[in-house]
Amino acid sequence: MALYTKAAEILDKVEQKKGAVKNNIKQLFALVCETQKYSSVLQEIIESTKFLKETKLKLNLAKVMVYDLLFGQGVKCGGAWKAMMMKHRSRLQAALARMKVKQKVSRNEDLLPPGVPEIPRYVRVNMLKTTVEDVIDYLKREGFSYQGRASRIEDLCHLSGKAFMGDVHLRELLVFPAKMDFHDHYLYKAGHIILQDKASCLPAYLLDPPVGGNVIDACAAPGNKTSHLAAIMKNKGKLFAFDLDVKRLSTMSTLLLRAGVTCHKLANQDFLKVDPLSPEYKEVKHVLLDPSCSGSGMVCLPDGSSEEQDSERLQALAAFQLRCLDHALQFPQLQRVVYSTCSIHSTENEEVVSACLQKNPGFRLVHLFPEWPERGHAPLTQCLRASTKETLTHGFFVAMLERQTTPCSAQQDSSEIPEEQPQQSTTKKKKRNRKKHKKQEN
Ligand SMILES: C[S@@+](CC[C@H](N)C(=O)[O-])C[C@H]1O[C@@H](n2cnc3c(N)ncnc32)[C@H](O)[C@@H]1O
Repeated sequence: MALYTKAAEILDKVEQKKGAVKNNIKQLFALVCETQKYSSVLQEIIESTKFLKETKLKLNLAKVMVYDLLFGQGVKCGGAWKAMMMKHRSRLQAALARMKVKQKVSRNEDLLPPGVPEIPRYVRVNMLKTTVEDVIDYLKREGFSYQGRASRIEDLCHLSGKAFMGDVHLRELLVFPAKMDFHDHYLYKAGHIILQDKASCLPAYLLDPPVGGNVIDACAAPGNKTSHLAAIMKNKGKLFAFDLDVKRLSTMSTLLLRAGVTCHKLANQDFLKVDPLSPEYKEVKHVLLDPSCSGSGMVCLPDGSSEEQDSERLQALAAFQLRCLDHALQFPQLQRVVYSTCSIHSTENEEVVSACLQKNPGFRLVHLFPEWPERGHAPLTQCLRASTKETLTHGFFVAMLERQTTPCSAQQDSSEIPEEQPQQSTTKKKKRNRKKHKKQEN
């Protein structure tokens, strides 16, 4: 029952724009997002069956429970709560059936109001435990149908049933229809696959730390990017991961254990208080910084893109993000930092990066992933953006700052931010990888 009360609590906050859903574990996240998506449908069912009057439940708690009963995988609680839901099940199912007849549709998703974006389900293969080929074979044996590797983003729009594809950009990603749920699947429980949106895979992929390197994940919990970094580092070297939130760190510990990560050192510490001059970090050359943000890119936040977010809140977040980014650049051996947010607001993205570069003229932007279709807002087109519309992902932003070998003496304004040539060393390495992957596929 705790799952439902927590989900209802988050829905309350989301509706009052007090919090981002991303700060919660995946199952909760999926439940809240899906309930939010079906909100108007659920409301109609609840009203037409007088469910609140009969059960004395609060609206959002009723919504999450009715969602799971009708559209999810059945109620996951027990005791009196389950009995109550079972008592009302046939009436709720009948109300849903009536709605479908009235709207002349046969599928649940056809009841959704127009404009609710659907993004595919992305699954990252955990290379610490298995290979892409083995996961594909396993799923094929279970009746899934592998359609090959996508050649265009649009190929991923039309997946249905048990069909899946390899992602067009990231080789370790498999792409499934939006509705596919792997939370109870063996491969997920055994840590062979990680359920991670494609855009959220970009930071570690682009940072691309070397095997055996010393790396910091500055705001790390619940750790999907940490486990991705560890996989790229082949579990060799040192991966320092910090987070302020004890609960999220404990979730992270479980996740990393399941993913077979061993090269990490977790610390419940404020990244801003980590001493860059400590001997412990003297070899750190790579930092991944994914700090707290407004979460406005997460598609389940209501009208995240159109609603004016409280500008005071955005300014406060941006000030914190800038302090973190500035702090990351203070590590003496630092070569690269990847900065990412799941916000769509320039205040938290391009403006933070520009302000940081102004303060730190020894760093410049790296032109990331030339083949990626959606770029940072001009003039910061070296950075990447992601969105439901263009990249079929949550809204996201990624920038990479790199230490210049010859520091600029002059102050730069954001329109003069020096740009590394596209296809810098990371990209060369990726190219080599792509060739290698092509070979493997042939
Ligand atoms: C966007 S989430 C990170 C998600 C994570 N990178 C992942 O991919 O799973 C931001 C995290 O920053 C943490 N945080 C906020 N302020 C912090 C600080 N000053 N030092 C370290 N962590 C902080 C929050 O607790 C939260 O877990």
